Amino acid sequence: MILQTARLILRPFAESDLDRIGELMANEEFMKFSMGPMTRQQTATFLQKVLLWSQAGLPSQFAVIERETGSLIGYCGFLHQEVDGAKEIEIGYRLHPDFWNRGLATEAACAIRDHAFRDLQLERVISLIHPDNHASRRVMEKNGMTIEKRTTFRGFPTIVFSMNQETWQRQVRSATCR
Ligand SMILES: CC(C)(COP(=O)(O)OP(=O)(O)OC[C@H]1O[C@@H](n2cnc3c(N)ncnc32)[C@H](O)[C@@H]1OP(=O)(O)O)[C@@H](O)C(=O)NCCC(=O)NCCS
Repeated sequence: MILQTARLILRPFAESDLDRIGELMANEEFMKFSMGPMTRQQTATFLQKVLLWSQAGLPSQFAVIERETGSLIGYCGFLHQEVDGAKEIEIGYRLHPDFWNRGLATEAACAIRDHAFRDLQLERVISLIHPDNHASRRVMEKNGMTIEKRTTFRGFPTIVFSMNQETWQRQVRSATCR
């Protein structure tokens, strides 16, 4: 499925995205608040995982394409995580720093959130954010997700933002993504 917003196209990844996503994931700023920049081999493993989720019909990541130029500028979509012993579906996103602070991550995460609840009928989604990641916290706040708890994830202090189907139906469904 392809999702469209005012400025972005979110489409499934393809094998042929390896060069560009490899370039992005080797960038320190792009990989901020993660385990750090990835080698091409590590990115290939990540891409394979994402492609396998898609092939299996599971929620997966989308390539974020800037409509105006057609460039692949990052990713936004779903990751499968285990948090405090529970299986969760996370909305995760990263954009090339040239595209920060224009509301683009908010626009992409909003489209993914709506896709989760409207099309995939998920019961709940979360987002795992380092307390110092103020930009990402704002993206979640602007998307109406709220803080559920603080925990430790992969050894890092982490804030768990969440939203459930009922809240989305009641408060968010008719709002447009901006
Ligand atoms: C997090 C990220 C995706 C945000 O992308 P973006 O397109 O710049 O996000 P938006 O423009 O939609 O919103 C960013 C908000 O954070 C705010 N912000 C940015 N840097 C900030 C900072 N250092 N302190 C406080 N607020 C900050 C912006 O002002 C904006 O809020 P506003 O609309 O109220 O002004 C981008 O910074 C990124 O890719 N970072 C590296 C990877 C990452 O951290 N991913 C998330 C992992 S959980």
